[in-house]
Amino acid sequence: MNRIKQYFKAKRAKIYEKDYQFLLGFLNEKELEYFNKLPVYEKRHSLDVCYYLINKYGIEDQDLLKAALFHDIGKIKAKITPERKAMTVILKKIPFLAKFLEKHIYFFKVYYNHAEYGAEICKEIGLNERIVGIVRHHHDKNLMDEDVIKLQEADEKN
Ligand SMILES: [Fe+2]
Repeated sequence: MNRIKQYFKAKRAKIYEKDYQFLLGFLNEKELEYFNKLPVYEKRHSLDVCYYLINKYGIEDQDLLKAALFHDIGKIKAKITPERKAMTVILKKIPFLAKFLEKHIYFFKVYYNHAEYGAEICKEIGLNERIVGIVRHHHDKNLMDEDVIKLQEADEKN
């Protein structure tokens, strides 16, 4: 999905009763506590990534589905609004500036390293190694891991 569409989707994001039912049936108390730390637009995005994997590929693998719900959990380390996210995405195209901002502005640092931070948070939650690994590599390019490739497709489309 293109970035402008993603921005407007984030601005009107909502979580519905059926989403809460799904989460309550799928996550334990600690996982739920951490999922709830995400802002509403990241919750919506993570749920949609998870639903996409279920609906398009019929995924039943709990690890991959939990990785989908927690792939962006690293972003809870800073307040990353849709506007800030747009800035990080645009400025990433100017590498020397992105490097500078990453050093000096905390939310840039968190955004550019959220996969790594997310993996650490997944460990803290008690999620297994497989989930930690998928979250850590969810933005890596040229991967051979089929599950991460599917997650990347779902991430891109939602
Ligand atoms: Fe991400």
